[in-house]
Amino acid sequence: MSEEVFKKVVSHAKEYGFVFPSSEIYEGLGAVYDYGQNGAELKNNLRQYWWKSMVQMHENIVGIDAAIFMHPKVWKASGHIDGFSDPMIDNKDSKKRYRADQLLEDKIERYNKDGKTQKAEELQAAMDQALLDNNLAELKNLIEKHEIACPVSGTRTWTDVRQFNLMFSTEMGAMAGGEADKVYLRPETAQGIFVNFLNVQKTGRMKVPFGIAQTGKAFRNEIIARQFIMRMREFEQMEMQFFVRPGTQKEWYAYWKEARMKWHHKLGFGPEKYRFHDHVKLAHYADAAVDIEFDFPFGFKEMEGIHSRTDFDLRNHGELSGKKLQYFDAELDENGKAYGNYIPYVIETSIGLDRLFLATMCAAYKEEEVGEGDKKDTRVVLALPPALAPIKLAVFPLTKRDGLPEIARNIIDDLKFDFNCFYEEKDAIGKRYRRQDALGTPFCITIDHESLTTNTVTIRYRDTMVQERIGIDQIKALVSEAVSWKNLLA
Ligand code: GAP
Repeated sequence: MSEEVFKKVVSHAKEYGFVFPSSEIYEGLGAVYDYGQNGAELKNNLRQYWWKSMVQMHENIVGIDAAIFMHPKVWKASGHIDGFSDPMIDNKDSKKRYRADQLLEDKIERYNKDGKTQKAEELQAAMDQALLDNNLAELKNLIEKHEIACPVSGTRTWTDVRQFNLMFSTEMGAMAGGEADKVYLRPETAQGIFVNFLNVQKTGRMKVPFGIAQTGKAFRNEIIARQFIMRMREFEQMEMQFFVRPGTQKEWYAYWKEARMKWHHKLGFGPEKYRFHDHVKLAHYADAAVDIEFDFPFGFKEMEGIHSRTDFDLRNHGELSGKKLQYFDAELDENGKAYGNYIPYVIETSIGLDRLFLATMCAAYKEEEVGEGDKKDTRVVLALPPALAPIKLAVFPLTKRDGLPEIARNIIDDLKFDFNCFYEEKDAIGKRYRRQDALGTPFCITIDHESLTTNTVTIRYRDTMVQERIGIDQIKALVSEAVSWKNLLA
C-alpha cells in the first residue's frame, strides 16, 4: 500500500465518522485526535478483543483500572523523571525542533531507497552505538557528517542535541504552586499495575505466575508527531504485566512473544503484515525487548512491545516507598526446598490501541472494481473481522410506506440487545449498501413487499455482495454466529 492510499484511509476515517482532529473548529491541536461515532465503536471492539483474550481467556490474569494521576514518587522510582527523554535538536533558521534519531532514521531510509545500502548500514550502526552510549555530541556529528538539512529551511545550521523529558506535568490542589504540588500525567499505564501489585495479589489470592492487565490513557509530549494517530500526545495503551519466578523470565518472554503474534494473526490480515524487531537499545528497565511491527503504508513500524522488565519496577517502588513488594512462594523446588520470599520478575506486553486502530483501518480498507460495462464502479469496503465492525446489522425498509418501516423497527427492537444495529430508510437501496460497506457492516437486511406476507427478508453479505432470501426468524442466529468473539478468540 502506498502513501497515496494512506491519504485515502485518513480522509475515509474523517468522512465516515471514525477519527476527527481534536478541537477542529479551532484549527485542531497538534497530535491529539477525537474518535467519532464509528471510530468509538471500532476502538471499543478492539479494546474488547484485547481484554477478552487477556483477562477472560486466562484464569491467572485479572484486570484493573488505575488512576491517571499518581504520586510523584512513582515516576522517580520508575526512572521516568531522570530517564524518559528523547534527543532533540533545533534548526537555527526555521526554529523547528526534531528528534535527532528520527532525522538519522529518515536519512537511512533515503540511502536505502537510493540503493546505497552500505552507507545505510554504517549510519544505522553508528546511530545505534551513539544512542546506546547516550552520546549526544556524536548524534550531532552524524547529522553534520551526513549533511542532513532541515526539511523546512533547507539549511544545516543546527543547535547541540539535548535531552527533552516527554512527561506532561500539572499542579494538584486549590493552593497549588511550585514543585511540591507537581503531578504528572502518566506516560505509561504500567506503573498503575506495579503500585497495585500487593493489593491485587492479596485480594485476588493470585499465585505466581500471574498477570495484571489494564487499558487506559497515557500522555507523552512527543517532539515530533506525525502520521495521523501513529504518534500522539494523548493515546491509549493496553498493557499486561506478568509476574514470574526469577530465573524463569526467558521462558515466559518466549511464551508471550509467540502468544501476542498469534493474537495479531487471528485478525486475518495476513501473517506477512507482521514481523519481530529485537531492540538494540534497551529501555532503562529491560533485559530483553522485542517489537511486533506492522506493515503500515509508510513501512514496517512498531505496534506492540514485549519487554522483560526484570524486577526493576517492584524493587525500586519497594525501596522508595519502604513497603515490601514481595511474594511468598510456598511451593517447593525440585530439591524439596521452598522458594520463599522474592521479588517477582516481570514480562510486559504493551500495545497502543490507537496504533492497532490505524493498522486495522489500513489493512481493512479496500477499493474494488464492481459491475460491468457502463455500470462499472468502484466500491470502498472496510473488510473488518465481523466481531470488530462498528455496526453488525443494517436494516433497510425498501420504501417508507406500506408497513415496511414497522417490520424493520420490530427486527431491530428484537436484535438490539445482542448486537449493534442501524436503521436507514433514506436513499436508493444501492447507495445504502455502499455506505455500510464503507463502514465495514457485515450484513444488510432489506424489507420489501414480499416480507409482508412471507416473513422473509433479503440479506446481503458485505464481502461477496451476494443477496439471499431468509426468514426473519433466521437473522439472529446467522448474525450472532458470524460476529461471535469465538471466531477471534478460540
Ligand atoms: N510500558 C511500556 C511502554 O510504554 P512503549 O514502547 O513506550 O512501552 C508501548 O509503548 C506501546 O504504546 C507502543 O508499542 C505503541 O503502540 C504505543 N505508543 C507509544 N507511544 C505512543 C504515541 N506517542 N502515540 C501512540 N501510541 C504510542
